[in-house]
This record gives sequence, C-alpha cells and structure tokens, in this order.
Amino acid sequence: MSYPTISRVKFYCDLVLSLLNLVFGRVYSKPIPPAADLTGKIAIVTGGNSGIGLNIALELVRQNATVYLACRNASKAREAVSYIISAVPNSADRVETLLLDTSSFSSVRECAERWKKSKSTIDILIHNAGSPSTPNGQPFTIDGFPMLYATNLLGSFLLTHLLEPCLSHRARIIFTSSTGQYAGKFKPTFSLGTVKNRLEPGFHAPIAAVKADGTAKDSVLYSNTKAMQVAFAKLLYNRWEGAAKANGTRNQRVAHAFTPGFTMTPIFGKAMTRTIWEDPALWILKATTILATDVSCGAATGVWLATTEDEAVMGEGMGGGYWERMTRRVAKVDLMSTEQLERFWIRWEADAGIVWK
Ligand SMILES: NC(=O)c1ccc[n+]([C@@H]2O[C@H](COP(=O)([O-])OP(=O)(O)OC[C@H]3O[C@@H](n4cnc5c(N)ncnc54)[C@H](OP(=O)(O)O)[C@@H]3O)[C@@H](O)[C@H]2O)c1
Ligand SMILES: *[C@@H]1O[C@H](CO)[C@@H](O)[C@H](O)[C@H]1NC(C)=O
Ligand SMILES: *[C@@H]1O[C@H](CO)[C@@H](O)[C@H](O)[C@H]1NC(C)=O
Ligand SMILES: *[C@@H]1O[C@H](CO)[C@@H](O)[C@H](O)[C@H]1NC(C)=O
Repeated sequence: MSYPTISRVKFYCDLVLSLLNLVFGRVYSKPIPPAADLTGKIAIVTGGNSGIGLNIALELVRQNATVYLACRNASKAREAVSYIISAVPNSADRVETLLLDTSSFSSVRECAERWKKSKSTIDILIHNAGSPSTPNGQPFTIDGFPMLYATNLLGSFLLTHLLEPCLSHRARIIFTSSTGQYAGKFKPTFSLGTVKNRLEPGFHAPIAAVKADGTAKDSVLYSNTKAMQVAFAKLLYNRWEGAAKANGTRNQRVAHAFTPGFTMTPIFGKAMTRTIWEDPALWILKATTILATDVSCGAATGVWLATTEDEAVMGEGMGGGYWERMTRRVAKVDLMSTEQLERFWIRWEADAGIVWK
C-alpha cells in the first residue's frame, strides 16, 4: 500500500485555510449538502444527543434514514429522540437509542453485543462522540487509558472492530475530527505495546508537551486524539482496499474524517477542569464563540460525507480523506509514511486487547 505523495506546500496552504476558517467561518458561505433519499438505510451516530451529532442525526432522519443515537446518558438520548421526532414528521419509528460510553470497553462491548442480536446491517456509522476535557480526578479510564484517548479514539476503534461484521458492503464510517488535528505530534518510535495508567510522550501527547510530573494539558491530548482519528479513517480504508484486492473484488466501503471548524455547540458550556493559566486554548475558544458558526454549518460536511454519491467521496480509491467545508484537505497524518501510520494500528490493537484480522 502506498499513499500519494503529498506536497508540503499543499499541506501548509490547507493549514492556513483551516486557521482562516476558524476565524471567518461565520462570514463564509454556508456549505449545503444536497438532499439524498436514505429510505431503508440504517445509521448510528455516537454522541447523537447533542451539538454536531444531534444535527447530523436530525438531517439523516430528515432524509428518511433510520438513526440510532448512541449516547452515554439514556435520559439525554431520549430527550434528543423527542426533539428529532417533533422536528421531522412521521419519523417516530425511525429514531432509536443505544447506550454507549466510548470511554469504557465494557460499555462498548455491551453496545456491540446488543447490536449484533438485532442483526441489522449498518450503512452509516458516525464516530462523533468526543470531549476536549478530562473530568476532574479522572485522568485515566477504568481500563487504564488516558480519558481523552479512550473517549475520542480507542472506544471507536474497538466499536468499529466489533461491528465490522454488521457493516453493509457500501458502508461509510465518518469521524468528527477537528482542526486541532494539525497540532497532533507523534514520535516515530512510540511503543507498539500497551501503555497503561501513564501518558506516553510522543503518543498520547507531543513529547515536549508532557511535563516532568507526567501530566499534559487537555488541549494537546485532544489534538493527538483528533489526529489519530484521521489516521484511523485512512488505515481502515486501506485495509478494506487491501482485503478486496487480495480477493479479486472491489471494495465499496469508505472511511473519511472531517473538521466541523469552530461550531457553536454545548461543548463550550461544559465544565472546564483546567484554569485559563493551565490550558488557555479552550478558554480562548470559549471566550470567542461569537466567531463560531451555527451547528448546521459545522455538521454539514459530516452529513455530506454520509450521504453523497460524489466520486470524490465514494469513487474508487477515494476513501481515507480529511475534509473541511465539503473540500478535501491535507491532514497532519498525511505527512507520515505508511510504515509510521501502520504503527498506530498495532498499538490500538494492543491497547484494545484485540487482534483485528
Ligand atoms: N464544536 C466545535 O467547535 C468542534 C470543533 C472541532 C471538533 N469538534 C468535535 O465534534 C464532536 C462533537 O462535539 P460538539 O461540539 O457537538 O459537542 P457536544 O455538544 O458536547 O457533543 C459531544 C457529544 O459527545 C458525547 N460524549 C462525550 N464523551 C462521551 C463518552 N465517553 N461516551 C459517549 N458519548 C460521549 C457527549 O455526550 P454528553 O451530552 O453526555 O456529554 C455529546 O453527545 C466532538 O468529537 C468534538 O471533539 C467540535
Ligand atoms: C422520504 O420518504 C417519503 C415517503 O416515501 C418521500 O415522499 C420523500 O420524498 C422522501 N424524502 C427524501 C428526502 O427523499
Ligand atoms: C443525564 O442527563 C440528565 C439531564 O438530562 C442529568 O440530570 C443526569 O444527571 C445525567 N446522568 C448522568 C449519569 O450523568
Ligand atoms: C473474500 O472472499 C471470501 C470467500 O469468497 C469471503 O468470505 C470474504 O468475505 C471476502 N473478503 C472480502 C474482504 O471481500
């Protein structure tokens, strides 16, 4: 497998465009995905009870899909279902919930087990659940992983593995990544074996960002998880391509990641566990939400990737992309070699305790 040679010039241009989009996103014209008819299609949206996930779920229901909101809080999930049903006529039998806490392996496994019992095929899986801040006093999950790494990446890795047998032959997997992925930084020789109950410099966070006491700011942990999501989309797609080639068949599944840009959602109202002096990045965003786009603008690229038949998204060899405003961009991990990228997969398998054939 080889990736197209990415020019660094294109990378820096895209980085500048993305930074401009954070500041001027509101005044740019809004991306509007053309409506599709998703009658008979089944979608799962993680973190579908709030913000961007809720908006993506709403749009998919509007386009006639059956949508499962996979959420950690059952009562919030039910509220979101009522909201969608009230907004979309005749949708009451097409909006369901699943209990899922992406930060817990046992929750991920239970969710997948329950799904497998229903034996439904999945057409669209949106990995959108995510958090930019570590809850107070809970730096590591019960499984021993940094909270943000487990929540934003590892849970979706395990879930995708467990649900892979249920994916339709034209399934799409979409990740709500972030412009923060540009700040992700990895050392080429991070450990391939599992690392628990401590941060590994150069994997969970850039080397220079891990302090002497072994901690790091949430914003740098977040950036690395968001870069890893883009890597996951690429690696997953390449595995599907490789398997089909070995079989003499054509792969029709795709995985893509996108950034919503700076989007007004409840995320900026959630409690912050770091002071402005400890980690200013999120505070700055919180103080400047006047610049943020409305939620439908942030969700639009995700909706589009989940529904379009555009060759640039669904065409042969076109998966594994990173997108902003319905435009493909060069992501940070696109600068990594295939060998470097493959290390992620081995490490995620070790951390999730699985072998993904
Ligand atoms: N808003 C932005 O400007 C922006 C920019 C870049 C990227 N993003 C990404 O967009 C995604 C959606 O964020 P949002 O802005 O829409 O914020 P949001 O309204 O806070 O939505 C986040 C969703 O993820 C869920 N979630 C968090 N931790 C979870 C866990 N352990 N298990 C299951 N679900 C969990 C939340 O559940 P609860 O409601 O229970 O908390 C909520 O449903 C995130 O991945 C975020 O990183 C957002
Ligand atoms: C959804 O289904 C209804 C009834 O079959 C149909 O009239 C409508 O056009 C469909 N909506 C879309 C967006 O295709
Ligand atoms: C779930 O959300 C509701 C608000 O809808 C809140 O009152 C409750 O405490 C939450 N439950 C948990 C376990 O976080
Ligand atoms: C490869 O072929 C085998 C046997 O026909 C089949 O069971 C398997 O699902 C195929 N795998 C892919 C990725 O197409």
